[in-house]
Amino acid sequence: MKLHILLLLQFTAFVSSLYIPVVKSSHKDEIALAFNSNVGTFPSDLSFFHGLIQQFFRLGATVKEEDNIRLADFETWVVEQKKVSFQGILNNIGGVSEFLNVSEVSKGAVIASPSKNKPNYFYQWVRDAALTIKSLIYHIDDNKFENVDDIKSVIEAYIENNYYLQRLDNNSGKFDDQDKAGLGEPKFNANNTAFTDNWGRPQRDGPGLRAITVLSYLSLLEKWDKKVSNEFLQSPEFIYNEIVKPDLIYIIKNWFKEGFDLWEEVNSHHYYTSITQLTAIKDGLALAQKIEKDPDFIRKLKVTFSNLKQFIEVDSGYKNPALPYIVETPSLLRSGKRTGLDAGSLLGSLHSHNMEFGDYSDIPFDVTDDHLINTLSAMVADMKYRYPLNHNKIGFEKGVGVALGRYPEDIYDGYGTSEGNPWFISTASASEIIFKFLYDLKNRKLDIIINNQNKDFFQQFIDFDKIPSTDIVTVPANEYTDAIVIRYGSQTYKTLALNLASYSDSFLEIIKDHVDNHGRMSEQFNKYHGFMQGARDLTWSYSAVWNAFRWRQKTLDILDQF
Ligand code: NOJ
Ligand code: NOJ
Repeated sequence: MKLHILLLLQFTAFVSSLYIPVVKSSHKDEIALAFNSNVGTFPSDLSFFHGLIQQFFRLGATVKEEDNIRLADFETWVVEQKKVSFQGILNNIGGVSEFLNVSEVSKGAVIASPSKNKPNYFYQWVRDAALTIKSLIYHIDDNKFENVDDIKSVIEAYIENNYYLQRLDNNSGKFDDQDKAGLGEPKFNANNTAFTDNWGRPQRDGPGLRAITVLSYLSLLEKWDKKVSNEFLQSPEFIYNEIVKPDLIYIIKNWFKEGFDLWEEVNSHHYYTSITQLTAIKDGLALAQKIEKDPDFIRKLKVTFSNLKQFIEVDSGYKNPALPYIVETPSLLRSGKRTGLDAGSLLGSLHSHNMEFGDYSDIPFDVTDDHLINTLSAMVADMKYRYPLNHNKIGFEKGVGVALGRYPEDIYDGYGTSEGNPWFISTASASEIIFKFLYDLKNRKLDIIINNQNKDFFQQFIDFDKIPSTDIVTVPANEYTDAIVIRYGSQTYKTLALNLASYSDSFLEIIKDHVDNHGRMSEQFNKYHGFMQGARDLTWSYSAVWNAFRWRQKTLDILDQF
């Protein structure tokens, strides 16, 4: 890097360390608008300067002190940011959003971001939409289905809209193809026409993610004894036959084929795709056993479940005997192009274990799985050094969260390619995983087993030499070699749980540091100076952060009961 750039860099770091982010003004909205419309008008190779410009606007911006979400204490921020995040999802859905024009964005269409250029994310991605609608479903459940009619109709509009998307001919194929190839199309225009530019297609995670979301909505209706209100959709039977079943057929016919990954870059087999497909088959089978008329279809679901599971656990290489973590794309490890470490593995685990909706123990790589925990800890270990903004966390004895990106070798900067950065969805997922881990321990009253596989992770939170023998469960010598089993409910157990909860919060604190003064989130934040970049108001960022808050609350509610 040239000297003057370096100097500029240091200068920026210096300025941002001095800078106090509040300037009082009554023009907050105009300036916010100017700020927003400036995002994205800079060429991709200037993303660094882009950050500087953002900084400039921040210096001049303009939120009353009491409205500045970043100045709130952590607990207040969590409450406020949760609301902003929920609203951030709704703002990007056609028919509900006050900002989107219905002639441009179909009712029930979820756009990835309102950004129309540099980058243009003004599209409906099947993945982003399915994942973010799931947050709305959780919201309904958390509210015991009370006063949620508006959200219910948004979810049903999303489901109806997907009926139309499924049947659109597109560059991946057609709905009526023998193997339903059209369902592998990753994205559509906001107005429900096909997107026809070159793209990384097909992406085979879409149908499974959509099926998981729609099925979880159907199980919610059943749980709270509610009916479908949307006239077009009529009934759970219609939704199953016309929308869910085609997606299940797609998985049955295509799971073993290569496709593009969730980051839309590599045509191969991917852990994220496989594990979410497996869950879709499991959830699909549960409903099919109640309403499917064709026994042969049930048989096909069962066969697919067991073949795909075998593929995931053995044949694919997602689990590699030489590595402690999940390998997201084994072909890239084999060709020496990548380590295999990837936030897609963290997301895959979260998106395939709907813990509170049922028993997911037959789906591998849940939050208590050693490979999953080791994936998280290897990501943290790598990115602590990789991203300069994390360097102040080097040398901490206790575990502390750092900003996480997609994968070590990433070069997508949110506009084009230069250098990869931390992402909100990755950082939030780390927090969610640890909260879910704690929740699961409590729920199943599990002892904590520390073994050779996971001890590097746990040693950040507990001093093994100081554990009182009464807190340790004695196990038959041959059962766990070299394992320390910490007794459920013991003092050591409680201390460990508390330390893990604050570890989890430390990832959220990073998010707090990088949202804007209103709590808005784009896709990434710059690895040097920390200012946001990439598509603004990314629906998925809002959803991922909202989900982490939700698991935080669920876990804190039970933490004192250990
Ligand atoms: C856009 C994709 O959405 C993103 O995931 C990818 O990294 C870049 N294209 C690569 O250019
Ligand atoms: C790029 C991400 O890599 C991809 O996962 C996402 O679907 C799109 N952006 C839209 O947000």
